Amino acid sequence: MASNMNNLPLTTRNQCVTLTSSLVLAAFVALTVQVFYFSPIDPLLFEPTSSASSSKNNQLQNLIKLGEGFLKQPEDVCVDKDGILYTATRDGWIKRLVRNGNWENWKHIDSSSLLGITTAKDGGLIVCDATLGLLKVTEEDGFSVILSQVNGSQLLFADDVIEASDGNIYFSVASTKFGLHNWHLDVLEARPHGKLLKYNPMSNETVIVLDDLAFANGVALSKEEDYVVVCETWKLRCVRHWLKGINKGKTDIFIENLPGGPDNINLAPDGSFWIALIQQFSYERLRFVHTSKVSKHLVASFPWLFNLINGAVKSAMVVNVGAEGNIIRNFGDNEGKVISFLTSAVEFEDHLYLGSLNTDFVGKFPLSSPN
Ligand SMILES: *[C@@H]1O[C@H](CO)[C@@H](O)[C@H](O)[C@H]1NC(C)=O
Ligand SMILES: *[C@@H]1O[C@H](CO)[C@@H](O)[C@H](O)[C@H]1NC(C)=O
Repeated sequence: MASNMNNLPLTTRNQCVTLTSSLVLAAFVALTVQVFYFSPIDPLLFEPTSSASSSKNNQLQNLIKLGEGFLKQPEDVCVDKDGILYTATRDGWIKRLVRNGNWENWKHIDSSSLLGITTAKDGGLIVCDATLGLLKVTEEDGFSVILSQVNGSQLLFADDVIEASDGNIYFSVASTKFGLHNWHLDVLEARPHGKLLKYNPMSNETVIVLDDLAFANGVALSKEEDYVVVCETWKLRCVRHWLKGINKGKTDIFIENLPGGPDNINLAPDGSFWIALIQQFSYERLRFVHTSKVSKHLVASFPWLFNLINGAVKSAMVVNVGAEGNIIRNFGDNEGKVISFLTSAVEFEDHLYLGSLNTDFVGKFPLSSPN
């Protein structure tokens, strides 16, 4: 280019230079307008607190892959009273592993946004769908809608759900501003748009339990059902709301400074909890993204940039957290060799069953190693 330009008469060369600078200027203005004026977010700066030091390990690399190739991004997992394991996949299936070791295509719905699932006391499952709301799935009736409207608006981005023994259904709405396919914008904006809601099927009423949550994700009840815990993914913490006892109605922090963004949380048989931590949301990653509004607008305007940052993190971690909010142990795949983007962990018969948005299998990990 440059050598060609040198052969041109001086005036033409100047015109070329002017034209080039004008183009550069125009591109710059367009970019600025694109990035700032049309930015999909209204970001806040946010300083994540340094994460608790949990030594990283690769123990999850020893997991057994269940249903490999058969399960498309199995985000959540649950086990019913008969020991049948269920998972919801990105292609709209509820698939299950029956006790003889075979996987079955159980029920299908035309949806690509199934999220958290839980067993229902009267049989079947309760399922969150980011576009349809709360669904019930039973052997006889397949999918039916439990709740699709809240206060006259479509219930969007229901994320995780748990049913209490009194019949109340607690569920999270990850973000009331951004949808499932724009979840990263909620992180970049760093304003809390999440909620924990309670649906009472007897009165058909939905009430807000907690508002202003930072991407409300996994929901679990304690063993005595005296409190409910909800995970706030990008704040790297889980909050606890008391349902019974002297603290009834109060809310406090259950655990904070987690070494990753808490996704699903599940009660373990001994009363502790298993929390899957998204490593893309580790302190180091968040700090990088949250340093300046300019970088937030840039990343928000160009999804490939976010994917670049996000895709580069291949790592997994699950923590076992005691009822006092203390980390008891953790298992990981720090290299992301076998599993990454871990989203759920359920304990059943001395094994962890692991869901992920990066795999085509459910991981099975023994909790007590054979001697
Ligand atoms: C429950 O309430 C919703 C509005 O929140 C309404 O659309 C629905 O018809 C009600 N269902 C029953 C069974 O009353
Ligand atoms: C429904 O709207 C009323 C009035 O704005 C508000 O007080 C209530 O909290 C809302 N409920 C839910 C579940 O959003």
